[in-house]
Amino acid sequence: MRWLYEKRVPLGQKSYEKLKTGNYYVVDKSLMIKDYLDKGNEVTLITRPRRFGKTINMSMMADFFDITKDSKELLRILKS
Ligand SMILES: Nc1ncnc2c1ncn2[C@@H]1O[C@H](COP(=O)(O)OP(=O)(O)OP(=O)(O)O)[C@@H](O)[C@H]1O
Ligand SMILES: [Mg+2]
Repeated sequence: MRWLYEKRVPLGQKSYEKLKTGNYYVVDKSLMIKDYLDKGNEVTLITRPRRFGKTINMSMMADFFDITKDSKELLRILKS
């Protein structure tokens, strides 16, 4: 049964943690955090485009900046 071990497309997924731990195809956007820190803006507004990954990116940053969480594994740069 091929579907048991093949990676899945994360349709409708909204949680970065589930995306990284759920055997999904993942586009690594973790360097976006560096961009935000480098720019040093107080506020960033991203209203579009639709289905761009805004919610998942916010979830990724929430995991990164949450000092009560150890996000080292979650934020590990992907090799493939
Ligand atoms: N880093 C990623 N890796 C793989 N798939 C992703 C990634 N980010 C987003 N997706 C895919 O795109 C879908 C839409 O992501 P998300 O809900 O974060 O976008 P959005 O910009 O918030 O959408 P909306 O405009 O509807 O609010 C996800 O359900 C997932 O299938
Ligand atoms: Mg959204």
